[in-house]
Amino acid sequence: MFGSLRLVAIAALDQNYGIGRNGALPWHLAADFLHFKTATMGHTMIMGRKTFDSMMRRQLPGRRTLVVTGNPDYGSRYGVDTAPGFEDACRLCVKDGLTEAFVVGGATIFRQALPYCDSLVLTMVKTVIPGMDTFFPRLEGGSRKWSVNSVSSHIADSKNDYPFEIIEYRRIAE
Ligand SMILES: NC(=O)c1ccc[n+]([C@@H]2O[C@H](COP(=O)([O-])OP(=O)(O)OC[C@H]3O[C@@H](n4cnc5c(N)ncnc54)[C@H](OP(=O)(O)O)[C@@H]3O)[C@@H](O)[C@H]2O)c1
Repeated sequence: MFGSLRLVAIAALDQNYGIGRNGALPWHLAADFLHFKTATMGHTMIMGRKTFDSMMRRQLPGRRTLVVTGNPDYGSRYGVDTAPGFEDACRLCVKDGLTEAFVVGGATIFRQALPYCDSLVLTMVKTVIPGMDTFFPRLEGGSRKWSVNSVSSHIADSKNDYPFEIIEYRRIAE
């Protein structure tokens, strides 16, 4: 893995594991945004270039953004730290002495990160959104490899389009 770096993937999925549509999130879930903010505050977030583009290339306050891109000019053009690959991003975190970093998507980054992740914090949105085009990878090994550490339930209301559960999985030591 990457020394003492603990990698946590954090994502919101519909019931078909869909995470995005047309380069954006297809829901508004205020309570999930708050959960994401609380979890990631003060940490480094590793994300793919398309996800950073989808955020209008704005960095979230109080967090360091590390964008994975094959474009060597991207960082200087948009004033953000970059890495030329996912593993390079992790190595940068280790070099900076970090013990924890958050992997925040999108699908290409989740796919590369999953084998290295120690924890997954998944918001399971209780709906199927039509036309989703980007998907979280299926969990390899399922319950043999991942144990549920915590679950919290949230209802739909005027600020949350759908009900959802936030499930934290920990990798089971082999
Ligand atoms: N629901 C959620 O939790 C969640 C979270 C995040 C994102 N999303 C959604 O996911 C979608 C975006 O995901 P996506 O999978 O299409 O794109 P992405 O993973 O955000 O970004 C893909 C880009 O990352 C760069 N990249 C990835 N791996 C690389 C590698 N090994 N080496 C070099 N560059 C690499 C490439 O950038 P270059 O082309 O610049 O080289 C690639 O085009 C959007 O719809 C977004 O809203 C959902």
